[in-house]
Amino acid sequence: MNAPTMQGLDIQAPAYVKNAKLIAWVADMAALCKPDSIVWCDGSKEEYDRLCEQLVQAGTFKKLNPAKRPGSFLAWSDPSDVARVEDRTYICSAKKEDAGPTNNWMDPAEMRATLQPLFDGCMKGRTMYVVPFSMGPLGSHIAHIGVELTDSAYVAVNQRLMTRMGKAVYDVLGVDGEFVPCMHTVGAPLAAGEKDTTSWPCNPKVKYIVHYPETREIWSYGSGYGGNALLGKKCLALRIASTMGRDQGWLAEHMLILGVTNPEGKKYHVAAAFPSACGKTNFSMLVPPEAGFAGWKVTTIGDDIAWIKPHADGKMYAINPEAGYFGVAPGTNMHTNPNCMRSLDKDVIFTNVALTDDGDVWWEGMEKDTGVIPDHLIDWQGKDWTPQIAKETGAKAAHPNSRFTVAATNNPALDPQWDDANGVAIDAFIFGGRRSTTVPLVTEARTWMEGVYMAATMGSETTAAAFGAQGVVRRDPFAMLPFCGYNMSDYFQHWLDMEHKLEETGHTLPKIFCVNWFRKGEDGKFVWPGYGENMRVLKWMIDRIEGQAQGQDTMFGVTPTYAEINWKGLDFTAQQFATVTSIDKAAWVEEFKLHTEHFDKLAYHLPQALLDTKAALEKRLAA
Ligand code: OXD
Ligand code: MN
Repeated sequence: MNAPTMQGLDIQAPAYVKNAKLIAWVADMAALCKPDSIVWCDGSKEEYDRLCEQLVQAGTFKKLNPAKRPGSFLAWSDPSDVARVEDRTYICSAKKEDAGPTNNWMDPAEMRATLQPLFDGCMKGRTMYVVPFSMGPLGSHIAHIGVELTDSAYVAVNQRLMTRMGKAVYDVLGVDGEFVPCMHTVGAPLAAGEKDTTSWPCNPKVKYIVHYPETREIWSYGSGYGGNALLGKKCLALRIASTMGRDQGWLAEHMLILGVTNPEGKKYHVAAAFPSACGKTNFSMLVPPEAGFAGWKVTTIGDDIAWIKPHADGKMYAINPEAGYFGVAPGTNMHTNPNCMRSLDKDVIFTNVALTDDGDVWWEGMEKDTGVIPDHLIDWQGKDWTPQIAKETGAKAAHPNSRFTVAATNNPALDPQWDDANGVAIDAFIFGGRRSTTVPLVTEARTWMEGVYMAATMGSETTAAAFGAQGVVRRDPFAMLPFCGYNMSDYFQHWLDMEHKLEETGHTLPKIFCVNWFRKGEDGKFVWPGYGENMRVLKWMIDRIEGQAQGQDTMFGVTPTYAEINWKGLDFTAQQFATVTSIDKAAWVEEFKLHTEHFDKLAYHLPQALLDTKAALEKRLAA
């Protein structure tokens, strides 16, 4: 029998692909996008190597010196395509109110009419890769499957590191399993016979990152950058999954998950939400200080996203839907994150870091390990870079949002349960923003309600992970501002409802803590040393879980006394502790005004309970 073709294009699926809906969808999308060929990715190492070699030939990848960084590559993006584009990201729910005031919205029919001509013929001159992936352990009841159609081989190889990608997904999918269809194009079609003139094709002018929550579809146009193009991550695992969680009674969160084991072998699990580029990867791979923490161990389950389901046993179980890390490189070194540095020894894809003269990579912050800044580099834009040039022009060798992509299995601190289909039971949630003032080092919410209030009002100074001004405080509720796929106030209500869901099963709810590692002193410098020293705060949280630390009541919740923190091996005075834990009355009066402004913007469906909690906190402050 001849393979089915469409205008000369071979659209035959491999024999192991049995899902009728998938086969029909690929044919429809091929008819729309008109690629030159279709590659059904099987996720094998041979395929990965072949695509990487192809990317080297195309100039997209530079193969790094195998003696220094075996199996690793460096890509430099178009300078216009270096971060998520929040202003081009849309939630196209049927009703505008369901997208809510924090999302861009367009009527789904209007958006489809806008995208149709853009996708028509968008893959001409290119290959369409069919990339099947599982978000979460294969076959887990908490996991979901996605299939991404993309004209970017860079996306296909990144997806192999970031997700459980390949043939086995088709077995889980079977003949009639459900999947989230994810359409992606770099948005730079070629005329017949034309070749790319750039190694990073994208559309510098037109970008759309579109989600249809009702039909659970993702359409991404014009960008090749991670968060816009690796559609399993922010688009599926957060924006689409948050709406699934709303409808089905679970949570999709911008959270790391870690395990912490005490010297007696008792293990706890913590899920923590910090905004982008605020240290989730570092915290998830934390190495406890040697002094005072002998026998303590922290292990990583995930560094960015958690899917959490209440279970019949009354506990909340979390999985990491991802299988790799797409982390920010600058600032990563043996002091801030030794486990991460070890994860990057081999088999890594780097994007937008600098190239050394001996074929290795470099980024700002690495000089802390070596004591020297290289005399010469090629910067992320392919230009010569020297310390002198940097001094004169301020040019960074690596883009501040430059990234590494690496499989979780490279992490020496990987938790043995990281791929457990049942997930791990969560003992505590942590929420934290980047605030130079006002918010104390750590506070425990007295109630679930108070914890939801802390998370809902979280603010953070902006970073390079998204386009826009940096260092400005913006409210980032639950660290989900750019990632919540529905009306934020309904999302708050969903979190409030969790309490009752779990109460019905008689379980003690996970505790909720609010942290801020970023308080600055009068000299403008960070007071808290952070990184591995955050273990001291984590230990206090465990003491609270075990009922072994009394803490002290403050307006905002319960904070540790100086004596309750294990200070062995760290010179941190009571005075410094007071600086990072103090609650400044005047600052909090101003802070509550900002909470009011924030709530005013979220007035539609805002739970009254949040306003009541605010009033109660203000009363405490006044007292
Ligand atoms: C990320 C982000 O890439 O949050 O994880 O921007
Ligand atoms: Mn993130």
